[in-house]
Amino acid sequence: MYKKNVLVLFGGCSTEHEVSKVSAYTVIANIPEEKYNVIPVYITKEGRWLLYDGSIDNLRNVPWEKFGTSAVLSPDRVNRGLLRIVGDKVKYIPVDVVFPVLHGAFGEDGTIQGLLELSGLQYVGCGVLASAICMDKAYTKIIAEHIGMAQAEYVVLHTWDQENTDAGLKKARHKIGYPCFVKPANTGSSIGISKAKNKKELTAAIEAARSLDPKVIIEKAIVGRELECAVLGHNSDVKASVVGEIIPAGEFYDYDAKYNNNDSKTIFPAEIPEESTEEIRRKAVEIFKAVDGKGLARVDFFLENETNSVIFNEINTIPGFTSISMYPALWQSADLPLPNLIDRLIEIALH
Ligand SMILES: Nc1ncnc2c1ncn2[C@@H]1O[C@H](COP(=O)(O)OP(=O)(O)O)[C@@H](O)[C@H]1O
Ligand SMILES: [Mg+2]
Repeated sequence: MYKKNVLVLFGGCSTEHEVSKVSAYTVIANIPEEKYNVIPVYITKEGRWLLYDGSIDNLRNVPWEKFGTSAVLSPDRVNRGLLRIVGDKVKYIPVDVVFPVLHGAFGEDGTIQGLLELSGLQYVGCGVLASAICMDKAYTKIIAEHIGMAQAEYVVLHTWDQENTDAGLKKARHKIGYPCFVKPANTGSSIGISKAKNKKELTAAIEAARSLDPKVIIEKAIVGRELECAVLGHNSDVKASVVGEIIPAGEFYDYDAKYNNNDSKTIFPAEIPEESTEEIRRKAVEIFKAVDGKGLARVDFFLENETNSVIFNEINTIPGFTSISMYPALWQSADLPLPNLIDRLIEIALH
């Protein structure tokens, strides 16, 4: 059987570089080897693309800067593939499909998807528009609002515009109140996110968020449970997984609680009323379709304690794929093990 060449892109220039590496190692270790050859390309924090030709069994320990060779994608649609550059020699390596295992800026935001479109290459996951919308929390909220999906009261500060910032802060004080969450519009893994309990903390939180993104969101803190649902498919064939619950160690699910603190727990299926589960599954598919999603996404919600309402939080188009990540775990508990899930994602890409 002809084995397809899967180019796995990982690392990248975003603040989620390290997470992407761990996600990619998990993906690569689980790609069905009887069907696919893996071509691993690591993108350094500075943005160099490095190909490793050696065995993929021990990728975790590859000193990339030493053994990786330069390799890039060209927007030339006729010679679709990777160009490996050594000295003044260029070797063409054919690619059948690309799996971008990149989180955050330049990976999950439509930019790499744009390059892949230009290159004429098929790839796993959402296209340019859905990726860009879902990376930008302010635009995601506009779409959610448009389809009438309940979400936390919020305001967007364009911090370069003093008038807008003043008006936003006024709204934050009067309509949102404390505690509130402050987020850069375009990050992930909770980077730059703080919970503010008073004016002083709000000022510091805005400064922290603004240092990562001039567009900052202030949001009402929801008191409730955190629930996540995985989505898989395209066009009319989009399926939602079971629903999982996150119980963060600490006050909220910050970077440390996500990746470093073993006291954070995930429970699936979540022990919530059947009607809440069904509402979450339905809404996950609904927002996925509204943003023009393709392939995969993990959609996150709150179940508010006081009202039992399902409140949409965010949608991640390249969710974590580490061994402790929710997206693969949700499908695993729906009887779709990781190798089959990856195979399905690649098949959707090639459709
Ligand atoms: N409005 C909110 N109310 C309560 N908790 C929140 C709110 N917004 C964010 N959080 C907490 O912060 C975490 C990270 O926020 P999120 O919007 O999911 O950003 P990221 O894209 O970085 O994951 C959430 O998992 C949750 O624990
Ligand atoms: Mg999140």
